Amino acid sequence: MAEKRVAFITGIGGQDGSYLAEFLLKQGYQVRGMIRRASSPNTERILPLIEQYWESKNPDVKSLDSPFFSQYGDLTDASSVRSLLEEFHPDEIYNLGAQSHVAVSFQNPLSTLDINLMGTMRILDAIRDMKLPCRFYQASSSEMFGTSQPPQNENTPFRPQSPYGVAKVAAFNAVRMYRDAYGIFASNGILFNHESPRRGINFVTRKITMGLAKILVGKDRNIVLGNLDAKRDWGFSGEYVEGMWRILQHEKPDDFVIATGETHTVRDFMRESFALVGLNYENFLVSSDRYKRPADVPALLGDSTKARKILGWNPQVKFKEITKMMIVADLKDKFEKTGNVPIERGVMRDDDYYLGIGRDLASKLRKS
Ligand SMILES: NC(=O)c1ccc[n+]([C@@H]2O[C@H](COP(=O)([O-])OP(=O)(O)OC[C@H]3O[C@@H](n4cnc5c(N)ncnc54)[C@H](OP(=O)(O)O)[C@@H]3O)[C@@H](O)[C@H]2O)c1
Repeated sequence: MAEKRVAFITGIGGQDGSYLAEFLLKQGYQVRGMIRRASSPNTERILPLIEQYWESKNPDVKSLDSPFFSQYGDLTDASSVRSLLEEFHPDEIYNLGAQSHVAVSFQNPLSTLDINLMGTMRILDAIRDMKLPCRFYQASSSEMFGTSQPPQNENTPFRPQSPYGVAKVAAFNAVRMYRDAYGIFASNGILFNHESPRRGINFVTRKITMGLAKILVGKDRNIVLGNLDAKRDWGFSGEYVEGMWRILQHEKPDDFVIATGETHTVRDFMRESFALVGLNYENFLVSSDRYKRPADVPALLGDSTKARKILGWNPQVKFKEITKMMIVADLKDKFEKTGNVPIERGVMRDDDYYLGIGRDLASKLRKS
């Protein structure tokens, strides 16, 4: 029987890492992950996997034979990077670990560079030094395009507008350099924004969907946002991870844009979210310079023709569906926590159920 392929994911506890782990397990991979130590839990998104494969539940299966296994490590620590590579001997590496928040990168520019650029270099150089016969995927970003005119594709110049973008451009170039200089199978996925109910709570889409849920249950009165006119190409993380995998299955290493080809403003996202429960967003919006960035990226719109043609990757989930998916997930969570909906094991309720309660609560808000 052929040995199972081993995939190693940095940032496995993040939004994309958790979807990618689930996707690769379904493809029959043994999935290994790097988790950094935190003083409070940072593994919530992969908890179902941890619970399913935990050694104490499967005492006969050693960690290294288990389909899923994660280990402490840190991209800023070269020795931990190397020892995980020695332990796992991966066939495929997905480098998703990053300080991924653009606004935070203005506050923490040096650590952003350390994690996002040097972290990438630490893996690439370990692959070179150890002569690891593996494929390497780098989580590059549409933020690299910065102020370049949309639509953006693989030939669009990079004009990053943040320490995050600068770090990602440098890491992108490191990937190309290690590919050309050392023949390493190293590819970049240039992913445009992608969201899901697992999106971090300080990203603008999640701020809006969680904020709306809080307003409906009376825990908040409004949502404070910065630039409402920024345009973004929003896709669904759950299907972008398949794009990552397809990039590494291609016959040669290359760079690909992954995007939906639609762009919407932050204001559109806010309007669409509130309209789902019959509210006018303008009554709940506070605009603050506090959330405006020293430099901003005005408009991102991806042209993923190359990925569609060569990899056969086609996004199905677009703006309206993503918005609804995120709203429903946050309503469900808040309604259950506040007792607006009873938690009954095994009872499946559809989206309309939660949106219906949302609309009832919204109509009371309008009257008060
Ligand atoms: N989502 C997007 O729209 C988008 C678009 C383009 C590119 N990207 C890139 O794609 C990757 C995945 O994005 P995401 O949305 O899943 O981000 P995310 O939810 O913020 O996940 C990032 C992960 O990286 C981990 N990490 C941070 N610093 C680390 C370090 N020093 N060592 C090891 N792990 C570290 C985080 O761990 P903690 O939980 O402990 O912080 C987290 O698990 C990132 O590289 C991001 O920059 C994302």
